[in-house]
Amino acid sequence: MKIHRSAYLIILLACIVLAGACKKNRHWELSRFVSPETCGGCHDAIYEQWKGSMHNLAHHDPLYREVAIHDLKGLSDPDEILEAEHCVVCHTPVGYVSGLPKKTSDHLKKIPGLAAQGIQCDYCHSATKVRKIYNAEIDIEPGNGESDPGTKRGPRKDVEPEYHTAAYSAMHTRSEFCGACHDVRHVVFGTRLETPYEEWKEGPYAKKGVQCQECHMRQRPGAPSTGSTERPDNPGALAAGAKERPHVYTHYFAGGNTLIPSLFGNSEQSKLAGERLRHAATLSVDSALSDGMLRVTVTNTGAGHRIPTGLSHVRQMWLEITVTGAGGRKLFRSGALDAQGRIMPGAIIYHTVFGDGTGNPVMNVAKAREILGDNRIAPLASEVASYRLPEISEASVTVEAKLWYRIVSQELVDSVLGKGKLAIPSVLMASDKKIVKVQ
Ligand code: HEC
Ligand code: HEC
Ligand code: HEC
Ligand code: HEC
Ligand code: HEC
Repeated sequence: MKIHRSAYLIILLACIVLAGACKKNRHWELSRFVSPETCGGCHDAIYEQWKGSMHNLAHHDPLYREVAIHDLKGLSDPDEILEAEHCVVCHTPVGYVSGLPKKTSDHLKKIPGLAAQGIQCDYCHSATKVRKIYNAEIDIEPGNGESDPGTKRGPRKDVEPEYHTAAYSAMHTRSEFCGACHDVRHVVFGTRLETPYEEWKEGPYAKKGVQCQECHMRQRPGAPSTGSTERPDNPGALAAGAKERPHVYTHYFAGGNTLIPSLFGNSEQSKLAGERLRHAATLSVDSALSDGMLRVTVTNTGAGHRIPTGLSHVRQMWLEITVTGAGGRKLFRSGALDAQGRIMPGAIIYHTVFGDGTGNPVMNVAKAREILGDNRIAPLASEVASYRLPEISEASVTVEAKLWYRIVSQELVDSVLGKGKLAIPSVLMASDKKIVKVQ
């Protein structure tokens, strides 16, 4: 009898464990979701902010789509195909959970409008649980569509909603919620492809309790809200006609992307990304050469994670150095762009490099089996860049250093879209200019 009971217990436990392990993102009919426009009927300010954001554009984003199509081409390894077909999980989460589309390759077909609206109100505010802090393992409980929107989860305990009911959710106020999508791992090889949450978790901001939301959902025009600036309250109402509150979390979700929003006519969003980048780092040129080396210190003063973060094998942050002597004579240059918009060889570029498992660099994440390099700058940390200058006879020279950022290299865009199709802008993040003693 005793043996029987423990056998039952073991079977029961095994069932629970298995059910947990097998619990995949559940299927929900598209008709169960409410459109962002309906939410915007009352939450007008928040809707306008979200509309310009990369969350809205995540599916339409031409850079994402071109890279996704490009990466799928010519794959034959089934493990690599699995990864390349997985993009929709995050870039159109409502599409994914409703099966429209289920795979990246379905993209080329037309998908229903609501599914194409990227990361939207009703997805985030129906979220009930984060199962893993990567690869969008988020449980959701949407309502029954426009006529019965169900419960929307948010950060407040004292709301009086109309149209829908509301429930307090501590999860929405925490970095784990963002990390659920922003940390990305290869579905088969497990390679850490994007890690802003891990970088944040190991860094000083997590220790101080400064969540992603405190930087990214306080920004508004004129208030970049980074680690190096104030992160002021944003007084207003949660919905039109609702009571005034000292602070309402904003929904611009600005990062470093100044280009894609502007392609969709959202110049305000591009400006916000620019302001964010200009309050992320500082540069300082040493006032004398040491051992013939010129030293420039780059400090991550404003980001809660490394700079750059996210898609950091594609992002480029780099140093441009110009050394001039008497009469404006150029003595040394590094990191300038050539006529084709390429960074000249030998420049210091901060990014990650993935490998194919045998030490060869790869750009296609589907093939990423290892991390070959990562020289990005951790939050509040400094890195010193050193340059050996040519023989200089003057006692002092003028050194100008610039820290640039762009979302993608010109050569990658040229190879995917064709030459001359899309010019990638560079944003000046920080600069310093000094007279440097040579002897
Ligand atoms: C008919 C108007 C109306 C519509 C439409 C509407 N809401 Fe609301 N919502 C409100 C009001 C009013 C409040 C409460 C404001 C207050 O008390 O300050 C609210 C509160 C909220 C909150 C805060 C909940 C909390 O506990 O912190 C969230 C989140 C929210 N709504 C999301 C949504 C989403 C998502 C949609 C679309 C699916 C939506 N709302 C549609 C009127 C509306
Ligand atoms: C990427 C996920 C995400 C999307 C998309 C999103 N929200 Fe939110 N929203 C949040 C989070 C997270 C918070 C809570 C921030 C905090 O308290 O730290 C929030 C807060 C809110 C609040 C309460 C604000 C406050 O200060 O109490 C409302 C209302 C709201 N969202 C409505 C909307 C509407 C309407 C949309 C679509 C136009 C939308 N949200 C899109 C994640 C999202
Ligand atoms: C359902 C998945 C999902 C969730 C949850 C989510 N994001 Fe995102 N987020 C994305 C995707 C996908 C993109 C990129 C879209 C693109 O570039 O095409 C993005 C873009 C962004 C960007 C813009 C990046 C840039 O390069 O400019 C920021 C900032 C951001 N998210 C912050 C947040 C924060 C903060 C939270 C938590 C409150 C959050 N996100 C929650 C999926 C998500
Ligand atoms: C202390 C403020 C701060 C915190 C906390 C913070 N960020 Fe950021 N974030 C920034 C700044 C500043 C930038 C612009 C510099 C850059 O692009 O790296 C940025 C940029 C980004 C980008 C765009 C990166 C790129 O270049 O493509 C993403 C995505 C992002 N953050 C996500 C997150 C997530 C997710 C969290 C929480 C785990 C978070 N951030 C926490 C300040 C912060
Ligand atoms: C687990 C979630 C997740 C998955 C799966 C995912 N992405 Fe993303 N993707 C993101 C997030 C979050 C960002 C924003 C990061 C940033 O801005 O640095 C992003 C940004 C991008 C961007 C940059 C877009 C821009 O405008 O700068 C490209 C390109 C991209 N993803 C391609 C892909 C491809 C191709 C796949 C499938 C092989 C894929 N992603 C799968 C979450 C995901």
